[in-house]
Amino acid sequence: MNVFLTGATGLVGGELLVTLSKRSEINKIYCLLRSQTVEVAEERLKKVFCLHDDVYDDNKIVPVLGNLFDENLTDSLKDNAMMNDVDVIIHSAANTSFSRFNDDAVEKANIGGLTKILMWAKQLPHLQTFLYIGTATICGKDVKDRVVKEDESPNLNATHLVKYTYTKMKGELLIREHLPEDKILIARPSIIMGDSRPIMPRSPVILWAMATINHLRLIPVNEHAQLDIIPVDYAAEAIVKLLFAKRKHSVYHISAGETGSTTALRLSKTLEAYFDEMPPFNFINKSLLNQVKHWTKGKLQPDSELYEYRKYLEYWKETFEDKSKLRLLFTGLDPYLDFMELGHVFDNNRLLEDVGIANSEPADVYMANSMNFVEKIDILEGAIDP
Ligand SMILES: NC(=O)c1ccc[n+]([C@@H]2O[C@H](COP(=O)([O-])OP(=O)(O)OC[C@H]3O[C@@H](n4cnc5c(N)ncnc54)[C@H](OP(=O)(O)O)[C@@H]3O)[C@@H](O)[C@H]2O)c1
Repeated sequence: MNVFLTGATGLVGGELLVTLSKRSEINKIYCLLRSQTVEVAEERLKKVFCLHDDVYDDNKIVPVLGNLFDENLTDSLKDNAMMNDVDVIIHSAANTSFSRFNDDAVEKANIGGLTKILMWAKQLPHLQTFLYIGTATICGKDVKDRVVKEDESPNLNATHLVKYTYTKMKGELLIREHLPEDKILIARPSIIMGDSRPIMPRSPVILWAMATINHLRLIPVNEHAQLDIIPVDYAAEAIVKLLFAKRKHSVYHISAGETGSTTALRLSKTLEAYFDEMPPFNFINKSLLNQVKHWTKGKLQPDSELYEYRKYLEYWKETFEDKSKLRLLFTGLDPYLDFMELGHVFDNNRLLEDVGIANSEPADVYMANSMNFVEKIDILEGAIDP
């Protein structure tokens, strides 16, 4: 089997690459990377393996230069004769930003880029499977506090918190426009955070939100809302097993499901156990977020409810000194708090039945292995680059 993988330098793609490289059924893994030279591309791929001392096999792993933004990406892939033998495409590359400022780039990468890959895919002589790494959150923000099944999406009437999930939903529709059903496999992970092993997590992206919440301690979110979170090692194992499994469906949630989900309250207990010198967590109504923002601007009305939490406001003043830093943190955190409030649990019965993988451990349990990494995250740096 020959695989073409995009996004190999990312959180999910990196772990997929390492997991795929260990499968003896796979002959070549062509990796699309944005890079000026093959040497630099190879260095970037080697770094993916170095992180956890995995073995890099340069007979198996082949860098392919390309950017989802390139106008001529489809043609350059078509012209690359060695890739005519690709049987499986795994499209993991995406712009995953939640920030409004990146909406155009998100659309260009996630819809424009996907279209270019599909135009190449549909004329490949041996294509068996186009595996699209989607996202379970395409169900949108109207679905609240319940278990969501795969069949509910894509739903054109869903309303989205961020452009990113909208483009991922459109992506699934695009694939169905261009490829026959028997070639399509859609894996929809829930929220991927950290690693369940006591090793350096592959990326701090979502961990950033956890580290920021840890520093703030007064959090405007419903602490009882379910959070469907899985670690990246579980996500990669499940997706690769799914690729090789006898499948009854073309769409699968890669998720914690009802048994493996957690809550902000449970995660806060894991954080409190390790960071025991900070004030205890206090969760307040999400509607108070606006008062927090006003307070960071020095514009909060004196009779505001937020003053009931004066102890925390004093703690913020001491910890952050400059209120503009807090403003930055809350701006970065804003979309994460919106998602945390939704209470989505993504049904994982299809995955458990067809792949035979066990449930993922809840995040409050496996994250206990990563507290020393959470401690090292520069939360201001993460807030600047959302
Ligand atoms: N992380 C999650 O919680 C989560 C949850 C559900 C679904 N997903 C899905 O999983 C997939 C991977 O997400 P991730 O978390 O791994 O994201 P990530 O860490 O941000 O990685 C994104 C990858 O896409 C590549 N990429 C971005 N723009 C590109 C472009 N213009 N041309 C070529 N490559 C480009 C990046 O390459 P560079 O290294 O060059 O930037 C990187 O390898 C996405 O499709 C996402 O929708 C993620």
